Amino acid sequence: MLWMFYSNAHTASSTCQVKKRFRAFLVRKLSWSHNMGDCIIVDDEYPGYSKEFFNVPSHYINDVESVLLPRGIILDRTAKLAKDIHEKIDLSKPLVALCVLKGSYIFFNDLLEQLRALSANANKSCRMSIDFIRLKSYTDSTSTGTIKVIGGDDLSGIKGKNVLVVEDIVDSGRTMQKLLKILDENEPNAVRVVSLLVKRTSRSTGYRPDHIGFEVPDKFVVGYGLDYNEYFRDLGHICIMSPDSVKKYSISNS
Ligand code: HPA
Ligand code: MG
Repeated sequence: MLWMFYSNAHTASSTCQVKKRFRAFLVRKLSWSHNMGDCIIVDDEYPGYSKEFFNVPSHYINDVESVLLPRGIILDRTAKLAKDIHEKIDLSKPLVALCVLKGSYIFFNDLLEQLRALSANANKSCRMSIDFIRLKSYTDSTSTGTIKVIGGDDLSGIKGKNVLVVEDIVDSGRTMQKLLKILDENEPNAVRVVSLLVKRTSRSTGYRPDHIGFEVPDKFVVGYGLDYNEYFRDLGHICIMSPDSVKKYSISNS
């Protein structure tokens, strides 16, 4: 890595520039995350914390490679997301907080607790209702790659209201873009999306939620509500699965 820095250094036109670039290089290489713009970015090279230092239930201890995001960090980040949302949202209209099940249920609960506290202590607040939806992808003879919203109240109830969509993870972004289209057809006043995680992946359509907790590498992560074939939702921290557990919990083995 140092070689990479020095091999490019000759292009810098002054000693000052070289010093600045070296400092930026060190900051990039010595830290596992940085804040570039809209969220905390977890680097591809970051291995996560050793699982020995965190409370991982014994039934999963051999299935987890490392702890990517401990629950405490997630909660601290969530408190700030709630503050940002509270500042940005138009409080003159009622708010509908929409939890995209199942993966978001823990994040939704923690985020809404923070929003509730902010609302209770602020001079300005608005009425908030909650709803829970599930999204089902389906393909039939007339359509491909369509999603259907199942569960929850009739979506016509969002007409004229502000909607906050709460998601656990945005991968390619396709599902969220389709959901936003469906919500739009029901004429809400405005829609904001918050996602705890966004994956840094070549599959991305370029869609980015309004509020993001962490941008994570393109690895399969589980815990804090996120599952792998319905396993790991009962894991407190967001972890990287071990290669063996991918096989162990695959559908063919369950
Ligand atoms: N974990 C859980 N669910 C997901 C992921 C992931 O990494 N990516 C897309 N859905
Ligand atoms: Mg989800």
